[in-house]
This record gives sequence, C-alpha cells and structure tokens, in this order.
Amino acid sequence: MLRIAGGGVVGTLAGCTSLQPRAGPGYDDGSAPNAPPGRPDREYRLRTTPGTADVGGGGAYRTWLYNDQFPGPELRALEGERLRVTVTNGLSEGTTVHWHGIPLPNPMDGVPDVTQPAIEPDRSFEYEYQVPVSGTYFYHSHVGLQPDRGLYGPLIVEEREPHVDYDREYTLMLDDYLPDAPRPTPGGGGMGGHGGMNDPDRPEYTGLLLNGRRPSAPPIFDVRESERVRLRFVNASSATTFGVRIGGHPLSITHADGQPVEPVTVDAFEFGSGERYDAIVTADDPGTWEIQAVAIDGTERPARGILRYDTADGPPVPPERPGTVLGYEDLRSTRSLDRFSGSPDRTFDLSLSGNMMGSGAWLIDGQAYPRADPLPISEGEHVRVRLTNRSPMLHPMHLHGHFFRVGDALKDTVVVPARMGTVTFDFVADNPGDWLFHCHNLYHLEAGMARVFEYR
Ligand code: C2O
Ligand code: CU
Repeated sequence: MLRIAGGGVVGTLAGCTSLQPRAGPGYDDGSAPNAPPGRPDREYRLRTTPGTADVGGGGAYRTWLYNDQFPGPELRALEGERLRVTVTNGLSEGTTVHWHGIPLPNPMDGVPDVTQPAIEPDRSFEYEYQVPVSGTYFYHSHVGLQPDRGLYGPLIVEEREPHVDYDREYTLMLDDYLPDAPRPTPGGGGMGGHGGMNDPDRPEYTGLLLNGRRPSAPPIFDVRESERVRLRFVNASSATTFGVRIGGHPLSITHADGQPVEPVTVDAFEFGSGERYDAIVTADDPGTWEIQAVAIDGTERPARGILRYDTADGPPVPPERPGTVLGYEDLRSTRSLDRFSGSPDRTFDLSLSGNMMGSGAWLIDGQAYPRADPLPISEGEHVRVRLTNRSPMLHPMHLHGHFFRVGDALKDTVVVPARMGTVTFDFVADNPGDWLFHCHNLYHLEAGMARVFEYR
C-alpha cells in the first residue's frame, strides 16, 4: 500500500479510496500543486525501477521500466473521465511523467523545473486530471535522457462515438533501443557531420523495436477475414523517423495525433518521434503479412510485426516498395477549425538551427534552452508559429498542452523537413500555464532545442 496525499490509502480501482478527505493531487507530503474536484473514474499506479527488458530472440538488456514491463502498461480511459495515476520513483535519480498530447492542467504536465520539481527517489506524485479529448497518446519520462530507456507506455483515450467502425484494435509502439545508459551526442549537427542523410547526433542504436520486440521476434497481430482492424501507431522513439507499411494491405488513416480525420487511404506513412497515426486495415486478403517500420534516419534492420489471419500459415509476405505515402496535406480534420481561422493575434517566426562550430547546441531562433527567452502569449489569443529549418536534419516539433492546426488537421507534433523546410501552425491560447515547445528528438532537446510558451 502506498501513502498518498491526504493520508489516504488507494486501492487499484476507483471507489477503493479511503473515506478521509484528500488533499488532491501532488506530492506525497501533501504539497499539492492544484486540487481539481471530483473523484477519479480510473486509477493506476506506475512504479519506476531498474529492470530487464526482454526484447525477444534471446535478447535482454538492463534498463529502467514502469511496473517491470516494457513498454509500460497500457493505460486506458474514456473521453471525459478523470484519471489518477500515482507514480512512485524506484530509481536512483529524479523522474517525472509527461502525458504526451493531452491538453491537461499545467501542473499535471510532468516537465521538471517548468511544471513541477522532479519526483525524488522513493517518493510518489499523484497525477490527476480529466481527459478532455479522445485519442491515441503515450506517456513517458521527461527528465534528461530517461525516455531513451524503457520509460514509456501507451495511453489510450477511447471515443464515446468513434467516427469510423472497426471490429478490433491493437496498439503498436515503435522505438529505437540502446543496451546501455544513453549519453549526450555531440549536438548542433555534430562536429563536421557526414553531410549525408544520417544525423550525427543520433546514437548508434542496437536496433528497432515494435512493442518492445526485435525484428527477429516480431509481435503477432491476429485477424480474421473481413474484420476491420484499427491499428494505433505511436512513434515512442527518441531519435528515429519511421516509414510504416504492411504487406498486401493499404492503410486507411483515420486519426492524426489521436484526432479524427476524414479517412484517407495510402500505402505508407512516415512519422517522427512523438507523432501518432491510427489506421484501419480491412482484412480482405488472407495470409501472413509483414508490418514493417523502416528508420528513415538510420540503418538498423526495420522493426517488424506480423499480421496473421486465423486461416493462414507460411512465412510473412513483406510489403512492396513503391506506393502512396501520406502527406500532411492529405489530412482533413472532422472537427471544426473555425477557431483557428482569421488573422492571428500574435505571430512567432522561429528558425531551427544547429551551432556546428561552437557549443554543439541546437537552437530555436538562435537560443539554446534553458538559456532562452520565454515566448509570451496571452489567454484567448490566436497564435501563429512559423518555423524555418536551417539545419540539415528534420525536427519533430511538439507543443505541450494544446493542439494546433497544421494545414487542415489538428496535431500536437509536426515534422519540419530538413534544409529550409518550413511549417506554419496555429493554436488558440486556451490553457494557461508554462508550456514546453521542443524538438522531440531527445538529443536535440537535451542540446537546447526547446522554448517555453508563457501565458502573461
Ligand atoms: Cu513527448 Cu515534451 O514530450
Ligand atoms: Cu530536432
């Protein structure tokens, strides 16, 4: 049993809370950062500890885990429900949990030194919030290079009324993995770089994983003929852009970063660290088929999974090479984008660049976080952000606490293409607080590619 704020004792299910009044979420010494009313509909516990990740095929490595599982356990809630997650830190250093993509109250956002101090070893913190929007999300540590350990897991918020029909669903988490403690890379594009496609700041990964499994021991996704199968893809990697396709089956993309879009059929999609796509696959071609995720910026063997019909045997058939690839311009939100129309109240023009010669920093508009100016905004404003990438690597840029409009879609993470690639996005400042905006490549983030949007 865990001691929690207010001296109560929690069970594993909602309704098991003691009758004592509670101090609300926060640290276990009762120093609650905020205290939303109501009792949780779903209650979970996560405990971080060192542990062994079994990646299949005889491969195992020592890393850090949630609840001794890799990836961490799948947390689920229904849209509108109140979620409480008590995190206990069994590591030798501080940690936090960030709920990537969820527009939650700022004190629950899990960013050390911005929204909370890190949870010290042997201490707990209660995250509690109402989940306002359905979608495919994930949670991960937001301390240093910890996310490049095993500290991530899926967070699925179910729709009350999905805009598409499906018969079953699976979550597919893609990752890159290291056998040892992650270390900072040179930064700033690397000293001298190789000038090629590969990012010199990307660690030498041991391999790529799908749901924590190496390509030699792929996870199997069972289907039956004529089923519609919803696949929730999460790029949980620290520094890998994946290209995803499935043998014999086109993908009907139904959600981008968890938000519903008009279904669009493609043969493949690419996504950067932190992005998610949901795809529906119609099981109309019995057999055993390979799900393949290639590292666009690396040379590791592709991550693999198997789509297997109940009637099938035989080796998996890999996808064919050419085909249509999803672009952001193909995404059309099913939700009204009216609040983002008209001219913005405030515009930020920001460059993304590396400091190749000097400090090895990665910069947003010439500054390296944390020695960087906050970006001031005011509640109610329509904010436009124009990004220009002056570096030879792409950057998956993630905004905390808000969805933004990019093209005709709502997203929370967007890839800015390399070499003068540009992206413009708009958001409404409707969630007061200090919100991190950063490159989701962990090594770029660590080398300074972040800013804080600060409500004034
Ligand atoms: Cu998943 Cu600050 O990010
Ligand atoms: Cu980056």
